[in-house]
Amino acid sequence: MRSWTLRRRLVALVVGLVVVVAGAMGAVSTLALRGSMVGRLDDDLRASSGRAVGAEDLGGPDALPGGADGGRFPVGPPPGLDVRGQRAGTVSLTVRDGAVSSGRIDDAGGVARLDDEQVDVLAAVEPGAAPVTRALPGLGRYRVLAATTAAGDLVVTGIATTEVDRTVRDYLVVETLVALVGVLVAGVAGRAVVRRELRPLERVATTATRVSKVPLATGEVRPVERVPAADTDPRTEVGQVGAALNRLLDHVETSLAARHASETQVRQFVADASHELRTPLASIRGYAELVRRLRAEVPDDVVRAMGRVEAESRRMTRLVEDMLLLARLDAGRELERTDVDLGMLAADAVPDARAAGPDHRWRLDLPPLADDGEDGAPAAVVTGDAPRLHQVLVNLLANARVHTPPGTTVVTSVRRDGDVVVLAVTDDGPGVAPALVPHLFQRFSRGDAARSPGSGSTGLGLAIADAVVRAHDGTIEVVSRPGATRFVVRLPAAAG
Ligand SMILES: Nc1ncnc2c1ncn2[C@@H]1O[C@H](COP(=O)(O)OP(=O)(O)OP(=O)(O)O)[C@@H](O)[C@H]1O
Ligand SMILES: [Mg+2]
Repeated sequence: MRSWTLRRRLVALVVGLVVVVAGAMGAVSTLALRGSMVGRLDDDLRASSGRAVGAEDLGGPDALPGGADGGRFPVGPPPGLDVRGQRAGTVSLTVRDGAVSSGRIDDAGGVARLDDEQVDVLAAVEPGAAPVTRALPGLGRYRVLAATTAAGDLVVTGIATTEVDRTVRDYLVVETLVALVGVLVAGVAGRAVVRRELRPLERVATTATRVSKVPLATGEVRPVERVPAADTDPRTEVGQVGAALNRLLDHVETSLAARHASETQVRQFVADASHELRTPLASIRGYAELVRRLRAEVPDDVVRAMGRVEAESRRMTRLVEDMLLLARLDAGRELERTDVDLGMLAADAVPDARAAGPDHRWRLDLPPLADDGEDGAPAAVVTGDAPRLHQVLVNLLANARVHTPPGTTVVTSVRRDGDVVVLAVTDDGPGVAPALVPHLFQRFSRGDAARSPGSGSTGLGLAIADAVVRAHDGTIEVVSRPGATRFVVRLPAAAG
């Protein structure tokens, strides 16, 4: 029941209430009806009993004919039945000096004797002021009153309750039918009303659901949907929910906008700072180079020191370039959109890697080229920014060179898989430390070896690859274990 919908619960409640009320009303009115009818019957019974007692006083069974058959019925029918006014179905029993006389007025107006069992039931009734109900075998239920005459005879009179019982039963049937119809109507109408009343709540929930599907995690906050004004009337409960939801959305929207603004500021600051650093770095590099060229005129240790300055400034330049690039990608700066053949890109980048790392084995695995007029493999062409995609590949190849020992084999493969172009760089080096894998694509995350001074590692290479690939609506992932490290880039293939 706890998991029932509110609508179901309300309808069940309405129906339940109607059942309870109809039941209570039916029970009370039936009891009242029955009470009043029995009351009237008892009045009749008292009158009837009075007449019977009067007749007994006047004459008694001796005065009547009959009495010839002996046994339990030595006398004629009780005089109480032979009085004017006794209705059909009335039973009477008289006991005088141990002699029992009994009878019942049948429907034709004659008097029929009662059998032994019936007599036993009637004879057992105690004389008293209040009528009691007794079931007479074969005759049904009777209201019975016993009285004693002045002469000490017992006179028991009974009137059938058949009429009352039938009326009450009919009334009960009608009432049950009416109650059933009432419950049915309450169910159907309740359902319709509850459904109509809850519809605004459903609309509010639908709005909330739709808002929950709006991507809010990144990017500029666009205005999200609101609950329509009709469902925000604070005088109704549903309106209060709708209004509260709208206030919540206002709050979320302004907070996100503020957050986005401050993020943008930080990003802009990083971009500006990186940009500003390029010029002084270029001069430092230039002066260091100058010293290198004037080697003959400067003491050796100064040349060595300036060599370090040059190397470090080169490294810093790369870092600054990387940071600038990331800041621009973060800012959602538009990428160039041209057709880029990843196969060609790989064919360019792998020889460069081979030149940089001659101690590694570099392999390129490309699908066979399509001859003119023949069906070859579909071209591995994507739409995107060629220099950026080139950088992704360069970063992956640099990692396979820098973070693996000499002799490692590095396989670069490009293939088209349906609507996706898959670029993979696989090496059989020692692999990425498992603890590093979950953070591999985060900024400045690098392995312990890469942290050692002079390694030239910054930990931005994969972060850049990730940002570039995502800007192209692609994915990059890694599977690594010792002996098999595989970086896979998936990009949507260019249309057509
Ligand atoms: N092919 C690989 N084999 C083993 N470890 C790798 C491999 N590629 C990356 N890693 C690990 O992942 C870390 C992060 O790589 P990432 O390219 O982001 O940074 P980096 O290479 O350390 O520095 P940067 O590329 O900015 O010069 C590396 O420091 C290295 O520990
Ligand atoms: Mg790297």
